[in-house]
Amino acid sequence: MSNQTKTPNRVNFYDDSKHDYRKFWIGREYEHESELIAIDSLLKNKHYSLAMDYGGGYGRVTPKLLEYADKVILVDPSEKQLNFARKKLNNKNVEFRKQETKDSVPADDNSIHLLIMIRVSHHLPDPTAVFKEINRVLKPGGEAIIEIANEAHFINRLRYLKQMKRVPSQPVPIGSIANGKKDDTPFVNHNPRTIAKILDNIGLVEVDKLSVSNLRQQFLKDHFSMKTLLFIEKHLQKSLSAIYFGPSLFLLVKKPIQ
Ligand SMILES: C[S@@+](CC[C@H](N)C(=O)[O-])C[C@H]1O[C@@H](n2cnc3c(N)ncnc32)[C@H](O)[C@@H]1O
Repeated sequence: MSNQTKTPNRVNFYDDSKHDYRKFWIGREYEHESELIAIDSLLKNKHYSLAMDYGGGYGRVTPKLLEYADKVILVDPSEKQLNFARKKLNNKNVEFRKQETKDSVPADDNSIHLLIMIRVSHHLPDPTAVFKEINRVLKPGGEAIIEIANEAHFINRLRYLKQMKRVPSQPVPIGSIANGKKDDTPFVNHNPRTIAKILDNIGLVEVDKLSVSNLRQQFLKDHFSMKTLLFIEKHLQKSLSAIYFGPSLFLLVKKPIQ
């Protein structure tokens, strides 16, 4: 295990009694299903013995991971989320593990066959340390699905273009509590090209990538059925990934066998 410093003793946004992350997903069934579709296409015909849902929260995606792994370790720094997850999943094949130290992945070297990190990059202004940890815990030949909150998505690119600016290479703070307030949980979007460079420097090899939640527009949700939107989504995820179209990118990376 790594020996990084203890997380400061402060309230994680996800532990806050005034905030229930589960409610964020009410009305976001399209985004939820789009993410499950992406996981299915990235993991199709694969099976792993030990998987980790890193920053797994209340276990929203863990049941999908259990379709591809014998055992799943759900890791999260929030005790509140872990308690929700214990109640929701109640499965002997899921182990719950608290992340006690910042930027660490609580697992032994070369021990994990598959790791997923969905909707956590938002909270990592510099994900380098976590990516190094992912590389450390993965077995050689092991894989990770890393979801990236994409600053360079199509609509944002049009916004930048209008202002005659380029998409920043550095992470961009977003959201109402992302105003640099000391001790707040950070919320950022990333430039996927910067992320690709960091992963490459660490030695994690990109195997595949998908563009996810491509039709995340209220207008479309109001005018088309969920079935239609998901049908189109499924068929666009791969092709649109080439131009970083959607607000969320799912990268499948591999730790090479030396
Ligand atoms: C947006 S939720 C995503 C939860 C789950 N992966 C999902 O997609 O539903 C972000 C989760 O990451 C956890 N988290 C926040 N900061 C983190 C960090 N620095 N490292 C790992 N997890 C973190 C939070 O406690 C929270 O449960």
